[in-house]
Amino acid sequence: MRVTRSVVAGVGAFLPERVVTNAELARRLDTSDEWIRERTGIRERHIVAEGECTSDLAIAASQAALKDAHLHAKDIDLIVLATATPDETFPATATTVQAKLGMRHGAAFDIQAVCSGFIYAVATADNFIKAGQAKHCLVIGAETFSRILDWKDRTTAVLFGDGAGAIVLSAHEGTGKSSDRGVLTTHIFSDGRYHDLLYVDGGPSKTKTTGHVRMEGKEVFRHAINNISDAIEKAIKTVDLSVEDVDWFVPHQANQRILDGTAKRVGISSSRVISTVAKHANTSAASVPLALAEAVNDGRIKRNNLVLLEAMGGGFTWGSALIRW
Ligand code: UT7
Repeated sequence: MRVTRSVVAGVGAFLPERVVTNAELARRLDTSDEWIRERTGIRERHIVAEGECTSDLAIAASQAALKDAHLHAKDIDLIVLATATPDETFPATATTVQAKLGMRHGAAFDIQAVCSGFIYAVATADNFIKAGQAKHCLVIGAETFSRILDWKDRTTAVLFGDGAGAIVLSAHEGTGKSSDRGVLTTHIFSDGRYHDLLYVDGGPSKTKTTGHVRMEGKEVFRHAINNISDAIEKAIKTVDLSVEDVDWFVPHQANQRILDGTAKRVGISSSRVISTVAKHANTSAASVPLALAEAVNDGRIKRNNLVLLEAMGGGFTWGSALIRW
């Protein structure tokens, strides 16, 4: 059976220049390097400069992904940008990226699924490609979470960082088998009853402000491993493969303890887990593509490898994607 597959043609990433260590945060907040490392695995994070926007990070990551794919903006017919920290309430940050990349056709829109945004964006772009409505999609996760943190709240301020990652998905013909290259399956979920456990206490309609991140960390942690493991098991079952077939597990980088717990629960050895949480902290929708870019660029993820992505975030939202590289 001939099918259309969304094959990863290129990957790119961008991090703001400024690195903020745990020690620097401990000088401003009642926290310590030891607490942050032990509870989360985070050592440092990148933070944007004054005036540096989500679109700036997204454009730099996109340019790197286009270069890697040997494509130009004129080849792209769809931009899907996952972010919870857009430049402005509207228009979509994706349209700013479109303009600055010099793309004068097609469509660009944002997706809001917080930390799961990149998985949602991959699922969306994959469906446009499979439906025959796009040939080359730029799929971006970009965030400036530092702008919505309450820097006086030690329970959230130490956890997040800024950054962007992007992939190009291109339409290729496949056989419909799990040996095909490309996105093999995606699963996305949400359950709005959990709003109060992770949200931002502001917004244009409710408060006319931007607001700050509020999180019941322990409760989110409790749900994370269950939800993520379920999404992973569904992905593997759908394509009739087993967890042993997964070459690389690229999880959302929220907390090393969640990465370890999930890998253990689903039976993936730690040597196959890509972890960037120590250097990037939680960059929300950017975390998975940033980790992907690192593992591709350092040669760990290779052509034909089976790569498992997952994420979980505010909403709650969560999901998984299985991609043969
Ligand atoms: O990406 C979206 C999804 N988000 C997540 O997946 C985050 C999930 N949650 C977590 O990663 C963890 O729950 C946290 C890292 C947020 C917290 O770790 P925890 O082991 O659940 O700690 P806790 O919230 O139970 O706090 C333990 C103690 C508390 O003090 P008491 O009540 O035991 O005296 C906190 O007040 O640690 C205290 N604490 C801190 N101490 C030093 C909380 N934040 C800090 C801090 N520095 N930054």
